Amino acid sequence: MQKIHLKEINSTNTYAKENIEKFADKTVIYTDRQTAGRGRFTRTWVDLGCRNLYMTIILHPGEKFLETYSNLTQYLSLKTCQTLEEYGVSPQIRWPNDNLVNNKKISGILSEAVFRSNTLKGIALGIGVNLNAKIEDVKAIPDRIATSLNLETGYEIERDIFMDRLLEVFFEDYDNFLKEGFPYIKSEYTKYLTGLGKTITIQHLKNQITGTFDSVNDDGTIKIITPKGELNLSIGDIL
Ligand code: BTN
Repeated sequence: MQKIHLKEINSTNTYAKENIEKFADKTVIYTDRQTAGRGRFTRTWVDLGCRNLYMTIILHPGEKFLETYSNLTQYLSLKTCQTLEEYGVSPQIRWPNDNLVNNKKISGILSEAVFRSNTLKGIALGIGVNLNAKIEDVKAIPDRIATSLNLETGYEIERDIFMDRLLEVFFEDYDNFLKEGFPYIKSEYTKYLTGLGKTITIQHLKNQITGTFDSVNDDGTIKIITPKGELNLSIGDIL
């Protein structure tokens, strides 16, 4: 694994995508500053300063896109939970891949696949983790109630130590995950999942769907029971 440190960049995901063929499998790009950080569904990812984590893992798992690759964000959210736990907090996952602490968002994941013709050129698996932020700055984050690890633990966090540990736990199980797919992590992932068995509302494309969050399927999608019947969703945002 090679790590590349950039002082400032628009977005580690954008940079990774633009240069994906130049970088070997498992190359990690991280930066102190993102000037145009991006989130899911065209949202922005706010820069909270240089002591927070903005990182993209470049992966070249194969030339044909397999279903398992769409579960990489869930795999990374599980590994992030396990890393956060080592700091004494109790993290959760909001399906599919947000990490929460005390019901507040602490990290977000954005995975982007690059294709040329029908060939997969690589995957840019990006994550932002709020490690050291001021309370007024997390309160100003739009869309979601947010927090940061220093605010939850009461002490400052060493970004590089956090990042190295996250990468260690990510890669120690990565090959098994690629072979086995989502079933390999399903039970562990489900343990951290928030909202199971409860009534939830999901923003699904242009619609809002309300129902009981029944379960997670073997492919990482979720089953929702609505008054109109059962629905399986592969994308969406739990509100
Ligand atoms: C989300 O919660 O919507 C996903 C946020 C992903 C943010 C990270 S920060 C590093 C990488 N570069 C980006 O521009 N986005 C991801």
